[in-house]
Amino acid sequence: MIRKSLIPLALLSAVSLMTGCKSQMDKYIDNLMSKMTVEQKIGQLNLHSAGGFISALKVTEDDENIKALRRGEIGALYGSGDVSYNRQLQEIALESGAGIPLIFGMDVIHGYQTIFPVPLALSTSWNMDLIERTSRAAAKEASASGINWVFSPMVDIARDARWGRIVEGAGEDPYLGGEIAKAYVYGYQGHDDKFDKDEVLTCVKHYALYGGAEAGRDYNSVFLSRQEAMNGFMRPYAEAAKAGAASYMSSFNEFEGIPASANKYLLTDVLRDQFGFNGFVVSDATAVQEMVAHGIGNLQEVSARALQAGLDMDMNSDGFVATLKKSLDEKRISKKDIDIACRRVLEAKYKLGLFEDPFKYLDEERAKTEIFTDETRALAREAANESQVLLKNNGILPLKTSAKVAVIGPFADDKESMSGAWAMSKMNSQNVSIYQGIKELSHNIVTKAEGSWMMYDEDLEFNVKYGLMATFMPGFKGAPIHTVPQERLISEALAYARNADVIVACVGESNTMNGEGASRSDISLPDAQEDLLKALKSTGKPIVMVLTTGRPLVLNWEEENMDAILVTWSEGSEAGHSIADVLYGNVNPSGKLTTSFPRSVGQEPLYYNHKNTGRPHPDYDPYKKFTSNYMDVINAPLYPFGYGLSYTTFEYSPIKLSSDSMREKGKVKASVEVKNTGNYDGMETVQLYIHDCLSTSTRPVKELKGFQKIFLKAGEKKKVEFEITAEDLKYYNHELEYVCEPGDFEIFIGPDSQDLSRAILTLK
Ligand code: NOJ
Repeated sequence: MIRKSLIPLALLSAVSLMTGCKSQMDKYIDNLMSKMTVEQKIGQLNLHSAGGFISALKVTEDDENIKALRRGEIGALYGSGDVSYNRQLQEIALESGAGIPLIFGMDVIHGYQTIFPVPLALSTSWNMDLIERTSRAAAKEASASGINWVFSPMVDIARDARWGRIVEGAGEDPYLGGEIAKAYVYGYQGHDDKFDKDEVLTCVKHYALYGGAEAGRDYNSVFLSRQEAMNGFMRPYAEAAKAGAASYMSSFNEFEGIPASANKYLLTDVLRDQFGFNGFVVSDATAVQEMVAHGIGNLQEVSARALQAGLDMDMNSDGFVATLKKSLDEKRISKKDIDIACRRVLEAKYKLGLFEDPFKYLDEERAKTEIFTDETRALAREAANESQVLLKNNGILPLKTSAKVAVIGPFADDKESMSGAWAMSKMNSQNVSIYQGIKELSHNIVTKAEGSWMMYDEDLEFNVKYGLMATFMPGFKGAPIHTVPQERLISEALAYARNADVIVACVGESNTMNGEGASRSDISLPDAQEDLLKALKSTGKPIVMVLTTGRPLVLNWEEENMDAILVTWSEGSEAGHSIADVLYGNVNPSGKLTTSFPRSVGQEPLYYNHKNTGRPHPDYDPYKKFTSNYMDVINAPLYPFGYGLSYTTFEYSPIKLSSDSMREKGKVKASVEVKNTGNYDGMETVQLYIHDCLSTSTRPVKELKGFQKIFLKAGEKKKVEFEITAEDLKYYNHELEYVCEPGDFEIFIGPDSQDLSRAILTLK
C-alpha cells in the first residue's frame, strides 16, 4: 500500500518479513515475477513518450513504439489523453510479453483541460484547501481522459527568478512549499490508500534540488552543502513522501558531482531511508542518456549506475532496455537490482488496480462528460480570484463600472498566455481574455489595443514564441512576428487611452517566456512594453498595470509611475473573468507573494530566509563599506516574500506569548489580534516566522513556521493563535541531525516577511 496509513508501509513490510506473512500484493507480484523473463522485467522499467502516437492517433504496426510494445519493452507511456487510443495500446500490452498493463502518464501541472493558475500563482493564494481542490479536479479530468499518472507536483524550491521554471513551483520557502506539496498529493491521490477511478498516481519532481541551478540557468549544476539542501530545499520532497506520493522524478542537475539520476545519496539514503518513500522513481526525460554528456560513463555504465543508485524507470533514454541485460550478463549489475526496480513498478500498477481491471481508467463515457465542466470552470475562477497579488494601489482600484476603460497591451486580448507554461491539454481558444472579462463587467465603453510588440528583438521574440516547434520540427518557419510597426501600435493605443477614464495596461511575459528552457538574464519588463507604458504615462490618465508573468520581475520604474500594479501571472481558463472580478472589486485581492521581487537582477538569488553573515547590513539601510551589501542597490527586495495588498487594511496587535520560555517537550502559544480597519470585507494571511538566535550552525535571519488565512468583515477583529513546539525550532545541524538547541528564539508575526512584530522565546 502507498504510505498514507498511520503505520508506515516500511514498518508493515518489516513486520511482514519478521512474521513471514506476506501481503496479498506481495504474493501476487511474487507469482507474477516468477513467470517473467529478465527482458520482460527490464521492459517494465521503460517509459516512452506517446508523442508520435498523438499525431497518428491510430495504431500503425510500423510505429517504433508499437513494435517495442509488442516486444514487451515498454512499461508505461506518457503524452496521450485519447481514451480510445490508449485502450488499443492497453490491449496490445496485455497481448504482449508477460501481459502486464501499461500506466499512462501526462504532464498535468496545473489542470488538465480546465487550466488553473500556474503553480507559482496558486501558491500566492496560501490556501491549501483550494490547491487540493484544483489538483483533485485535475485528477478527475485526467483520469477521465485515460491518464492514471500525473507528472506533478513540481516542488522545487527556487530562489533565483532568472530560472524559468520558478513558475512551476511554490516559490522560495521550504515550509510553505511542504504544505503545498502535501495539498497537491492529497488532491491527486486522495487521503486513503485506495485509488478510486478518478484518483491518479502523483510524480513529485524534480528530485532533487533542481531549483538550485547555478545562476538560474536551466539544467545547470547545483552547488549546495548537504546541510543547506536539507534546511532550505528538501522539506517539500519529504512532506510529499509523508503524504503518500506514489512516485518521484529524478532531476537533470548534478549534486555533489553526481547527476541526480545516479545519485545514491539522494535516491536511496535520503528519499527512501530517511523520508520513508517506497514507490518508484522515474528519470526525467532523457536524463539517463544525458549522464553521458555529464561525463560519468557511456550509456551502459550510466544506466547501471542509475539502477543501482535507486532509479527504477528510464524516461525516453532507452538506456535500461538497451543495456541492462548486457550489464547483467557481464555481472556489472545483479538480478536483484532489476527485481527491486521491477517490483516497485508492478506495485504501483497493483495499487492502481490495473491487474484487476486494466481498463479501469479507459472509460470513453467519462471522457465525454467529466472534462471542462461548468463546475471545474467555476473552480478555475475561484482559484484565480485568490491567486492575484496587488503590489500597489493609490486608490484607483477597485474600478467603477461606470468608468470608460482602455485595455491596452500585448496581453489585453491574448488568450494563449493565460494558460501559462506547461499546459499540455489546454484549449486556448476557450480561455477568457482580460479584455473579455472587463467588457462583461463594465457599464461603459471598453476599447482595446495591442499597443506594442512583445519586445524589440525580433529574432528573440521568434525564439520565445516558436522555440519549441523549431526544436522538434526541422525547417519550421512560423508566422512573421513584427507585422505592424511599433509606432503604429503605440499611436493607436494612445488614441484609445486619451479617450478613456482609466487605462488597464496588460503587459508582462508571454507563457513561453518562462517555464522549461526559458531562463532570462534580464528580468525587467521587455523593452518594447516599457516604452508603451512610458507613452501611456504621457497621457496623464491613471494607469492600472495588470502583469502577466511566471516569475518575479524588476519593476522599479513601474512602482514609481503606475497608479496600481496587480500581478495576475497566468491565471488559466477563467483568467479574464477572475481578473475583472478583482479589478472591479467583486473580489477583494488576497494573494501574497511567495517569491521576493528584486530591485535589480544583480540581487539574485534573492530570498528572505537568508543568513546574517559576520558583517550584517540592515535590508533597507543605504550603502556602507565593509558590510554585506551592494554599492548601487539596497539589500531589500522591492516587494518582499509574503507581501500583498488588499482593498481593505488590517491592523495587527503586538505578539502575546503564553509563556516566554519552554522546554523541548513543551509548547507555547503565540497570538496576535488582527482587525479589519478598512471598508471592505477581506482575507488576510497572517504569517509566523522564527529566528534561532544561538545555534551551533548559523541559521537564517527568519523562517516561516506557520500561517493562517482568515476572513474578516469590515470592522471585525479576530485573535490568531499559533502553537509553537520544538518541531518549529528544529533544523539540520552540521552533522545532519535534526535538532533544536537551547537559547533564545525571536518570534515574529505579521502580514509579510518584513512588516513584523517581535517577541523572545527561550528554549531551556
Ligand atoms: C522534462 C521536464 O523537466 C519534466 O518536468 C517533464 O515532466 C518531462 N520533461 C516530461 O514531459
